[in-house]
Amino acid sequence: MRSLLLLSLIILAVVLDGETYSLSFGDQFTTDIILFNKTVVRRPIEYKSWNVNVDFPCGGSINNYTITVIYVYDNFLNGSGAEPSLLRGGVGASEVTINLSGEVGHGINSTIEIWGF
Ligand SMILES: *[C@@H]1O[C@H](CO)[C@@H](O)[C@H](O)[C@H]1NC(C)=O
Ligand SMILES: *[C@@H]1O[C@H](CO)[C@@H](O)[C@H](O)[C@H]1NC(C)=O
Ligand SMILES: *[C@@H]1O[C@H](CO)[C@@H](O)[C@H](O)[C@H]1NC(C)=O
Ligand SMILES: *[C@@H]1O[C@H](CO)[C@@H](O)[C@H](O)[C@H]1NC(C)=O
Ligand SMILES: *[C@@H]1O[C@H](CO)[C@@H](O)[C@H](O)[C@H]1NC(C)=O
Repeated sequence: MRSLLLLSLIILAVVLDGETYSLSFGDQFTTDIILFNKTVVRRPIEYKSWNVNVDFPCGGSINNYTITVIYVYDNFLNGSGAEPSLLRGGVGASEVTINLSGEVGHGINSTIEIWGF
């Protein structure tokens, strides 16, 4: 029983390890236009992890469009990239803050695409 549990934990770990953190929020419509497209790159730092907040619209500008979909592509295809989460705003709003949370000892290379109408 114990070895079975251990085995399933190992299998789970392998499956999770092979995962990339690409993620999308919302649904895209053909009439949507691209509002934002940015690639965030950070170099790895030993024993440290990156925690980057990306704001749309950035610094003082105003966005008059409604966000319909947000794509976050993890350009590291080996599972060591940043995990995205929404801190503020998002689909249906006109602003969003995305948190990119990297892994200890690894860099970040994530592309954020925001579409709206
Ligand atoms: C966003 O930028 C990436 C890389 O610069 C590019 O590959 C992609 O086609 C762009 N997306 C759009 C919708 O323009
Ligand atoms: C956004 O809307 C405001 C108020 O209607 C307007 O003054 C501004 O020019 C608009 N900005 C853009 C980029 O369309
Ligand atoms: C980040 O990922 C993009 C897309 O795969 C790639 O073109 C670019 O060279 C990468 N940047 C760095 C600094 O590795
Ligand atoms: C994952 O890929 C990135 C980009 O190719 C690389 O910098 C990083 O060291 C890789 N991570 C692992 C654990 O292999
Ligand atoms: C970003 O997300 C990570 C992981 O959930 C969290 O630890 C961190 O505090 C967040 N950063 C900010 C600025 O909220």
